[in-house]
Amino acid sequence: MEKRYPHKSTHSFLAILISTLVFFAFSSVDGSDQFDRLKTGHSGFEQPLDTTMTESPMSGKELYVQACSNCHGMDGKGGSVKQLGLQTPPADFTDCNFANREPDGDWIAVAHQGGPVRGFSTEMPAFGEALSVGELQKIMDHVRTFCTNKNWPRGELNLPRALVTEKAYPEDEVVVSSFIDVENEGAVINEIVYEQRFGMRNQIEIVLPFGYSQMPGGGWNGGHLGDLAVGVKRVFYHNYNSGTIFSLTGEVIVPTGDSATAFGKGTTVLEPFASFGQLLPAGGFLHVQTGLEYPMLQDKAGNEAFWRAALGKSINPDPWGRTWSPMVEMLGSKELESGTRVHWDLVPQMQITLNKRQHVMLNVGYRIPVDDAGRDSQIMIYVLWDWFDGGFFEGW
Ligand code: HEC
Repeated sequence: MEKRYPHKSTHSFLAILISTLVFFAFSSVDGSDQFDRLKTGHSGFEQPLDTTMTESPMSGKELYVQACSNCHGMDGKGGSVKQLGLQTPPADFTDCNFANREPDGDWIAVAHQGGPVRGFSTEMPAFGEALSVGELQKIMDHVRTFCTNKNWPRGELNLPRALVTEKAYPEDEVVVSSFIDVENEGAVINEIVYEQRFGMRNQIEIVLPFGYSQMPGGGWNGGHLGDLAVGVKRVFYHNYNSGTIFSLTGEVIVPTGDSATAFGKGTTVLEPFASFGQLLPAGGFLHVQTGLEYPMLQDKAGNEAFWRAALGKSINPDPWGRTWSPMVEMLGSKELESGTRVHWDLVPQMQITLNKRQHVMLNVGYRIPVDDAGRDSQIMIYVLWDWFDGGFFEGW
């Protein structure tokens, strides 16, 4: 073993170094804007953008009535396309299912810069010359009163997704991932994750892994199917003001994979886990996930506990543009049998929103085993499509 992994300690050192650099390269020490950042979520208004404008003494409601109600209606439902002479129906702010998933930051961007900034219609005008970000925030506070049910988790709590750690926020999304071994015999594991929300706080998820492995001679062994997982998640606690969300998930992994290879465990596995998300000052965020794996056939695989955390920060070099989210994940797992050791991995990574609507994202990272158990390092990649926000090719 030792011979095949001559650089393990260099690896651990590199892992820690890269992770620290990735994280702190973008950190600012300024925590003074904590409240604003929490409220504007991850669309980034680190400084007031228009300090030269004098703020109107009017309330958010008055400003809304003056600037927005013509199209969006006094009641926020959105006027009729016919009467307004528009092609596109104005957004209906009373629709809680739609309104709650959009963070204030995204909406302020649309109102400030006009629809096209997020790939929407030019019929949604830009108000950046007439209204300051502060005034638009007041308007948003009024717009938020149109959905009267406060049990919906707010979109601000939908933190950027890490490569491995599962988030607490329920989603409508498709994520396609590839994990590529970079040492010894190659292996590529791909995963298609489909997630769909139902009700206010629930989500169903289906995970289908498949992949390729390299044979000792060098040729590739194609098309292994992995073990299919089906899970249900429910949010048990969420608080917009403190920036906290907590959920529990029950997952069943069925042995559809080829158990003669590493792609199948050969037994049904039950996997309950808890996930926690927390917004931090200055665009920072933290995910924590912890759970257990109980294989039904104990001779095929042992019980295992795992814990994962991802610490990151969202950055918008252009306040209305792309969001960059550098993150570092720490992954730990241990078989629940005495004498087994804890496995530790570090995964420095960068998530980028690819399109204007910011509903298609790319994450690229590198998984580095920190303990000397002889596991391979992996390049990890995903493309995420939040399908509720529009088709894959919309909003570019
Ligand atoms: C001239 C009509 C008009 C006015 C005035 C108007 N809007 Fe809109 N707005 C629209 C239309 C049309 C859309 C739908 C755009 C689309 O779906 O492509 C829209 C969409 C939006 C969205 C939806 C973004 C999303 O995530 O789907 C927000 C937020 C918004 N408007 C905010 C405002 C605010 C705030 C004001 C007042 C400052 C305002 N609008 C004034 C026509 C208008």
